[in-house]
This record gives sequence, structure tokens and C-alpha cells, in this order.
Amino acid sequence: MCLYFSKIEPATIIRNQLTENSGDNTVKAIVHQGEGLDGASYRDMVLADVGPGKVCVKLKAAALNHRDIWTCMRAEPAAPPCVLGSDGAGIVERVGLDVTDMSPGDEVVINSSQDWESREEVPLGEYNVGYKILGFPDHGTFAEYIIIGRHQLEPKPAFLDWREAAALCLVGITTYRALFTEGRLQTGQTVAIPGIGGGAATQALLFAKAAGAKVLVTSRDSTKLETARKLGADLAVASDDSWGQVVRDFTNGRGADIVIETIGEATWKQSIAALANGGRLVVFGATAGSLVEVDLASLFLHWQSIIGTTMGSRDEFREMLAFSEKHQIHPIIDRAFPLSEGVEALRYLNTARQMGNVVLDINI
Ligand SMILES: NC(=O)c1ccc[n+]([C@@H]2O[C@H](COP(=O)([O-])OP(=O)(O)OC[C@H]3O[C@@H](n4cnc5c(N)ncnc54)[C@H](OP(=O)(O)O)[C@@H]3O)[C@@H](O)[C@H]2O)c1
Repeated sequence: MCLYFSKIEPATIIRNQLTENSGDNTVKAIVHQGEGLDGASYRDMVLADVGPGKVCVKLKAAALNHRDIWTCMRAEPAAPPCVLGSDGAGIVERVGLDVTDMSPGDEVVINSSQDWESREEVPLGEYNVGYKILGFPDHGTFAEYIIIGRHQLEPKPAFLDWREAAALCLVGITTYRALFTEGRLQTGQTVAIPGIGGGAATQALLFAKAAGAKVLVTSRDSTKLETARKLGADLAVASDDSWGQVVRDFTNGRGADIVIETIGEATWKQSIAALANGGRLVVFGATAGSLVEVDLASLFLHWQSIIGTTMGSRDEFREMLAFSEKHQIHPIIDRAFPLSEGVEALRYLNTARQMGNVVLDINI
């Protein structure tokens, strides 16, 4: 269990609780309390002490994910305030007494998939109860500082800037597991990715291309299709009612070996239509609704699999960082906002106008 900030209302902030070198323990953060996106605000929170096994990180950048919108939309109105944000990169400010392998000044990225060690397992406990993702129910990264377990931190890849490093974390671990662990992607195979505008979708495109796959993407926006082609997409077509057949035609009738599905109801039928015999439809998102129909006979007569996945383990996070470094993969940054404009950034993400990742600059 991680304790990042004490849940004290700004009105009752207690000063002088500080560790020797912290100066002031009030930090600015994007916090959700109340209902919907209107419940998000830029406000003061109080930084807790750095306990055993913990590290205080001065954040340089954080990235938004659709999860932050879900958190706002699904929060209980009476729930206590929660600092949003799952992705972050920054500089170690101070460490707990027993942390010996990390020092102030170290540059780190944050693995928001909490307490899941090995790729061979699924995490213990239910989603948001036993297994947790940073940013709800525990306080997240949209803040000047975070206090987090040492084991959730890895060295920041030097080839990435702060924005890119922050943006890589959550979409990196999720798409890496989806493509390689669950999708078992091999060089030369074909991957279809509907809705390429999303941060996770663009990251999947970059990883799949680096692995030597053919990548076929869709979008509702012609400018995003053009950008996807420049990023290496072999085919980029409209998210309409026939793109599954277009994928089949492009692959000489065979279809895609892997479909990465993050949208749900709006694209499901075509995602199934695009899937090859023996293909794997790997799903980890449902931005446009999660209730879909499956024709079981078609599924088993085509030896197809539907695989659900969420986030990934510490093993996979480290492998993903190494893979990114090896192939020099820079996540796509659509737009940056200062931390103080984090609420505007959430509203922007909610319009789905982005192509790639929306980030927050903090302490830059
Ligand atoms: N389970 C996990 O571990 C995990 C991890 C990461 C993300 N996710 C989930 O994956 C999903 C994607 O997240 P994200 O943050 O990358 O992006 P996002 O903000 O959800 O946007 C994804 C893209 O989906 C497309 N889209 C949305 N509504 C659509 C519709 N009605 N019809 C067709 N396309 C539509 C749009 O693409 P175009 O603009 O190109 O049309 C949009 O840019 C979210 O649901 C998120 O919660 C889950």
C-alpha cells in the first residue's frame, strides 16, 4: 500500500510537518473531488513524509490517459480528493532511510502498475482493490512531487526528453504486453489498430513497426491518417463500416494476425472482420462502450482468440524500456499544457482531437 499525500483539505493544511530539506510540504496538484470533469481542479495538497521503502520524486512531466477521464466520470461524489495521473518522470528529491540504491538527483520514470512483479503472473487481487494503478485510488502524478515505492521506479531512458519519458510509461507497458506477451507478435506478422489517434494506439504502432510487423490503422480523421502513414503505417484507412474487408483485401484475404482493440462498441464488428484465421484480438480499452456481440461459431471455426489484458508487470516495464531504447522509439507528443492548466488538458483529451499523448509540464 502506498501513501503519497495525506488527504488534508487545503483549508486544514498543517505546515511545518516537513522533513529537514523539503522547505514546504504544500504542493500544487490536479485533484479530483466531486462529479465528472467539473470535479477536477488545480489546488494545494500536502506532501506526506518519505517513509521506509519510499522515494520522493520531483516531477518534471506527467502524461494524461483516458483513465484520468474515467476516474473523474466514475468517482463517487463523496469520495475523498485524489490526485489524478498515472504517468510521470522526474528527479529523485530524497529517499527513505532504507533505500540504498537510489540517490537524490537520479532521473527516473514511474511504473504506475503497482506491486505486480513477474510477467508470468496476473496481479493478486481485484482491479482497484488489491491490484491498483497509480492515479486512483492512490494519489497520482499530476503534482509537483510524488512519494512512491522505490520498486515502482526505473532509470529514465537518457534518449527521451521529460515529456516523452512521462508519456511512455502507461501506454508503453500496456501495449508492450498486449503485442508481445499476449499477442505473441512475430516479425512479418500483421497488426491492425483501429482509432490511431489515441496515445495507446500510436504507441502500439511504433512498437509493432519496430518489431518488423506490417501495421494497418484506422481513424475518423484524415489528418491523423496522414500522420500515421508518416509514422510508418503500411495502410491507413477511415474507421468506417468496411475497414475489416479493406484489411482483408490488403492482406490477400488473410486478415490481421493481431488486432489491438481499445475502442469497443464502435469498432468491434470490423475488428472481428479484420481478424485472420488463428488471429488474436487483444483488447484493453472500450472508449466507445464495452458491450459487444460475439458470434461464437465464427470464433471457433476460425481458431480465433479474444484476449483481455490490463497494464503489465515490472518485468514487462523493464523489457519495454529496453526495447524502446534499442529501437530509439520516441512516443508521439500531441500537445503539452502546464500543470496549472491540467483541467483544460483533461477537457482537451475528452474531445479525442489528440494524435498521440497529451502531457503536463511540471517544474520545467
Ligand atoms: N487496460 C489498460 O491497461 C489500458 C491502458 C491504456 C489504455 N486503456 C484504455 O484504452 C483506451 C484508449 O485510451 P487512450 O488514452 O490511448 O486514448 P483515447 O483518449 O481513449 O482515444 C482513443 C481513440 O479512439 C478513437 N475513438 C474514440 N471514440 C471512437 C468512436 N466512437 N469511433 C471510432 N473511434 C473512436 C479515436 O481515434 P481517432 O481520433 O483516430 O478516430 C481516439 O483518438 C481507453 O479506453 C483507455 O481507458 C486501457
